[in-house]
Amino acid sequence: MTFARFLLAVAFLPLVSLVGTACAAPLEREYDAAESYEFIVVGGGTAGNAVATRLSQQLPDSSILVIEAGPFAPDEDRINIPGFKGSTLGTKYDWNFTSIAQPQLNNRVITQSRGKVLGGSSAINLLIWDRASKWEYDSWEQLGNPGWNWKNMIGAMNNAENFSSYERSNYTGTTDFGTEGPINAVVNKYMPMHQDMWLPTFDNLDVERNTDWLGGDNTGSAYHSSTIDPSNYTRSYSAVEYLPRAGSNLKIMLDTEVAKVNLENNGDRYIATGVTLLNGNVINAEKEVIVSSGTLKSPPLLEHSGIGRKAILDCAGVEQLIDLPGVGENLQDHPRIQISYQLKDNYTSFDKLKVDPDYAAEQYTLWKQGELSAYDYAASAYSYQNWSSVLGDKEADLVEAAKRVAAETNNVVNNKKLIWLTDPLFSGAIAEAEFLLSDGYSGNKGYPKKEDPRYGKGFTTIFAALMHAFARGYVHINPTDASAKPEYNPAFVSNEYDMKALVELSKYIRKIATTAPFSEIWVDEYEPNLEVDTDAEWEDFVRKNVNTFYHPVGTCSMLPREDGGVVDSMLTVYGTSNLRVVDASIIPLLVSAHPQTAIYGIAERAAEAISGAWR
Ligand SMILES: Cc1cc2nc3c(=O)[nH]c(=O)nc-3n(C[C@H](O)[C@H](O)[C@H](O)COP(=O)(O)OP(=O)(O)OC[C@H]3O[C@@H](n4cnc5c(N)ncnc54)[C@H](O)[C@@H]3O)c2cc1C
Ligand SMILES: *[C@@H]1O[C@H](CO)[C@@H](O)[C@H](O)[C@H]1NC(C)=O
Ligand SMILES: *[C@@H]1O[C@H](CO)[C@@H](O)[C@H](O)[C@H]1NC(C)=O
Ligand SMILES: *[C@@H]1O[C@H](CO)[C@@H](O)[C@H](O)[C@H]1NC(C)=O
Ligand SMILES: *[C@@H]1O[C@H](CO)[C@@H](O)[C@H](O)[C@H]1NC(C)=O
Ligand SMILES: *[C@@H]1O[C@H](CO)[C@@H](O)[C@H](O)[C@H]1NC(C)=O
Ligand SMILES: *[C@@H]1O[C@H](CO)[C@@H](O)[C@H](O)[C@H]1NC(C)=O
Repeated sequence: MTFARFLLAVAFLPLVSLVGTACAAPLEREYDAAESYEFIVVGGGTAGNAVATRLSQQLPDSSILVIEAGPFAPDEDRINIPGFKGSTLGTKYDWNFTSIAQPQLNNRVITQSRGKVLGGSSAINLLIWDRASKWEYDSWEQLGNPGWNWKNMIGAMNNAENFSSYERSNYTGTTDFGTEGPINAVVNKYMPMHQDMWLPTFDNLDVERNTDWLGGDNTGSAYHSSTIDPSNYTRSYSAVEYLPRAGSNLKIMLDTEVAKVNLENNGDRYIATGVTLLNGNVINAEKEVIVSSGTLKSPPLLEHSGIGRKAILDCAGVEQLIDLPGVGENLQDHPRIQISYQLKDNYTSFDKLKVDPDYAAEQYTLWKQGELSAYDYAASAYSYQNWSSVLGDKEADLVEAAKRVAAETNNVVNNKKLIWLTDPLFSGAIAEAEFLLSDGYSGNKGYPKKEDPRYGKGFTTIFAALMHAFARGYVHINPTDASAKPEYNPAFVSNEYDMKALVELSKYIRKIATTAPFSEIWVDEYEPNLEVDTDAEWEDFVRKNVNTFYHPVGTCSMLPREDGGVVDSMLTVYGTSNLRVVDASIIPLLVSAHPQTAIYGIAERAAEAISGAWR
């Protein structure tokens, strides 16, 4: 008989008292395979912990189990300290997915990081907290999902949020942000000195400033917030913020992977009866199974359970129970590009932490003491723009390309994106481009090697991302080895519009950098270099450098079944009565923002729907 590790939720949450003493030693008990729960949540990630916590509060008499493949890491500096952002990528906390070779990118492979730790990707992401425009959330309702509009989403996002930077005189919004929610968001207190050039440069580019960027119109330039607890400048994420608010009816199983959801035929619909773990153990769910395994893992989990397109399941040797060809499809992301500049010597770059151990030690001590430190830093300078402000009169060419691509692909998602480009009501009001300053070197070439005279120098990087790419990729169970990592195809710049758009975004980054006062802070363009100039050269640059902004969504889309939907507007998987998906994969159309804010909102709304159904 096998015993899985089982931990009581209260056992490993330090400083939080749910039942009795604050600093209880880890309490483990044998897991009894006969035990069952009313609700099982598969994946203790961003959405999973949020939905499980709210269910535990809203249904205090129900038992809830969260099963998470990764460990809990509350004392991990690389997760907690904002300035260590990125350091967990490729480590044991990362699923580290890799794509199939991308022919349109010279056969490059894209690495897609996803958190494998309690908290999921909210534990390893780059902490950015912002929102898209209200029309983009409204589009989810227009695509056939009653209730999924800005009004309801802003309410749900506010429930997740404690935004405290509104007290500063330069945030003018008075509504449309939350102050009571678990996730703390603040505008970073550490700003590199050269970042002061950001807003004046956009002033000179005739881009308006936006001082109410959480309020449903995100266009313009601004300093945005990060998921940081301002009391100690640590990362604010689902595991440490939501779970401590749960009751003792919530249990968590760590380091345990679910292999499939068990389904039982009940006439016209299947009932989810529980889950089978990778080790073969079965845990029963009396009421519901909630899949919150993320955009790259939820579809393969459904496919392993017999839900998906027949050809794919046959290939992998899985018996099809529910014919749902949309599973794993409609994958959207924000393709991004970046250009880096070598700073003048008198500006202190974030790179200094990596090349100057004395400085790093000093800054680490300052961080520990709660003093202003470079380790507080996470990107805070943004500009979300419409095409006319990026392109001027060249916008028309790009829109023509979009029309051709939309006609070829002819699906509800791309057709909606085309409306935003062509209808004067929206074109201009919805952001199509994002620019952000990420201090320090980022890119493909790598920081200069020790023997390079530029070693030790400081760099700063401007990123750009395409907000509504027309490319739609997929993720599926691996056809040759069902137990292997899924087959992931982001299909970046696989159409004319996306390529043209990324070329224009690259050129605009150069324009930002060469506009005063930003132009006064750097001595050279490090990557690519100032010789890259023609459209053909920029295209080559895009093929070699385009990458993910780590925002994959859409693979279990909330859409009508005939449009490729996987879940209905109650997030119930078609063909089942009690199997839901609650995570980024249900987003039918990717919005112009970093998505975690919306994903917490989705979890909040899902909990209301689920507890409403069982109360
Ligand atoms: C490097 C990086 C940077 C990012 N930067 C930002 C940012 O700055 N701002 C922003 O808004 N967004 C950012 N994102 C995106 C954002 O973090 C994600 O979109 C979001 O966290 C996804 O939430 P989720 O609940 O869908 O999935 P996740 O949070 O990934 O949760 C899925 C969970 O399920 C678990 N799991 C998967 N399969 C199984 C299984 N079979 N059994 C048990 N457990 C399983 C996983 O281990 C994981 O914990 C970033 C993402 C990454 C990776
Ligand atoms: C993650 O994937 C990359 C390839 O994209 C590989 O180089 C790296 O070693 C992997 N990391 C881990 C921890 O497996
Ligand atoms: C916002 O206000 C703070 C303090 O009042 C100031 O330090 C900061 O520079 C301001 N930021 C912007 C973007 O104006
Ligand atoms: C919200 O954040 C502020 C600033 O850190 C803090 O003072 C306040 O207690 C927080 N509110 C809640 C409900 O946690
Ligand atoms: C930061 O402070 C919060 C609120 O006091 C606390 O719950 C949390 O454990 C602290 N984080 C770390 C890593 O010390
Ligand atoms: C850095 O030096 C330049 C002159 O080379 C000067 O214009 C600028 O103000 C200086 N910046 C800082 C932060 O000292
Ligand atoms: C597009 O953005 C620019 C720059 O912020 C702004 O001035 C303009 O009004 C926007 N266009 C429309 C139609 O809203």
